[in-house]
Amino acid sequence: MVREGFARAGRLLAGLVLASLVSGAADRPAPFDAAHWRAIFARPDHTPTPPDNPATPEKIALGAKLFDDTRLSGDGMTACSTCHQADLSFSDGIDRHVGHDGQALDRRTPPLWNLAWGLSFFWDGRAPSLEAQAMAPIENEREMAGNLRTALQVLASDPQMPKEFSAAFPEDPAVTQDNLAKALAAFQRTLVSPETRFDRWVKGDDNALEPDELAGFSLFVGKAGCVACHQGWRFTDEALHDIGLPGTDKGRGPVLGVPAADHAFKTPSLRERVWSAPYMHDGSLTTFEDVVDHYADRIVKRPTLSADLPKQIELSATERAQLVAFLNTLSGDDPPRPARLPAKAMTWGASVDAVVASTISQKDRRFSPGAILMKAGEALRILNDDTRVHNVRVDGPAKSFISDAQNPGDTVNIGFDQPGQYDVICGIHPDMRLSVTVSTARAR
Ligand code: HEC
Ligand code: HEC
Repeated sequence: MVREGFARAGRLLAGLVLASLVSGAADRPAPFDAAHWRAIFARPDHTPTPPDNPATPEKIALGAKLFDDTRLSGDGMTACSTCHQADLSFSDGIDRHVGHDGQALDRRTPPLWNLAWGLSFFWDGRAPSLEAQAMAPIENEREMAGNLRTALQVLASDPQMPKEFSAAFPEDPAVTQDNLAKALAAFQRTLVSPETRFDRWVKGDDNALEPDELAGFSLFVGKAGCVACHQGWRFTDEALHDIGLPGTDKGRGPVLGVPAADHAFKTPSLRERVWSAPYMHDGSLTTFEDVVDHYADRIVKRPTLSADLPKQIELSATERAQLVAFLNTLSGDDPPRPARLPAKAMTWGASVDAVVASTISQKDRRFSPGAILMKAGEALRILNDDTRVHNVRVDGPAKSFISDAQNPGDTVNIGFDQPGQYDVICGIHPDMRLSVTVSTARAR
């Protein structure tokens, strides 16, 4: 299941192409090049949608309604919005929500901003799409404790709902699990965080930020090293990292079956976070000050720590306050309302020309070349010439392959016997993608 998921995430990526923004400290401009960073943090002009679930006003309206519908839960009292509250950045203001069994859930309710650009979902990235994610909380015993079959029957016998499903899904007018998931996903893709003062600065207004806030941004992209993971306008690289929080939750490791990914969690967006304290997958940090102190002083040293975490961050009290001042500029002054952005269907498929190559590089967490041509019977050689641990995964007709932890210096060889199209991705950095085209072997 996990494997399937990842191929989908890989395919999705082809369209999303997270611009390769920042590639290591070496080519980071010094000391602070405003034009460079303005280009990197510029907002997009549309929301991506998958071609098999286009956004229509009817579908989005239905999804919004379902998001608030307590009939999806077992006791008829819990809706998605019980935990994902609009005024709290679609989170719930507490460290961990109390589940149906009266015990705190294992993880904090994540805010839901800007997930249209997401490559994997949940703190540990275990769901490959918003559509796939949507059914999990309904049936989760501790979250909504619902029964999908019953919920669908209840919706189908409502006087209004079947009409709304028909309007949303004219091709397939029925109250089905698939349509329920698609409507919820389409609604969630409209949750685009609105512009803030930081965006005014990005657009060229030098006075939009106070000097201390700008100093904080300069630290964020400079010596504090935050931009290694919180990059691009959403402030996430979509990868999973161990940032040295104490705690026993193993996160990504068990999902992949790769202990090198233990304690790794998905880099969250930093947009509108003023409204969604407390922070981290376990809600263990209460304020931005605590977060900054964590990165500066409290990182638990262990072998799984992300290679993207600076070895040592020295920050004075003034610098810490400046970083916090900057983080505040990514939230609005009032509870945020979603921005309106037109939706555009993504075209899937590799955007680079396939070439013949003997070895694939993984430097700066990028497969290079990004698309290759092979003949059936040949083997693909992937060299980890990067500083990070990777986890190569392949999916396609008649082939699936999962490497163990691929440490720097390790090479993975994968033979392809069958012609076809294969996606290769990294389970720890889902934005890495290699497209492999295997043609029929030449007759000897
Ligand atoms: C009882 C509280 C609760 C309810 C109800 C709930 N969620 Fe969540 N939601 C959570 C928690 C906790 C997580 C994180 C779980 C994890 O990562 O393991 C989560 C994760 C998510 C994510 C992943 C976000 C990300 O950044 O990867 C999405 C999307 C989501 N929920 C949507 C929904 C939808 C849609 C519904 C209704 C069908 C719903 N949730 C109902 C608590 C809840
Ligand atoms: C190695 C990658 C990496 C670096 C470098 C990094 N972060 Fe993070 N950040 C993450 C990950 C991953 C999480 C979620 C961790 C978790 O919940 O276990 C996170 C969480 C956060 C959160 C909490 C967001 C929320 O909603 O819970 C904030 C705020 C934050 N980081 C700010 C910063 C700042 C400021 C810096 C620089 C001092 C920084 N980060 C450096 C990866 C990184």
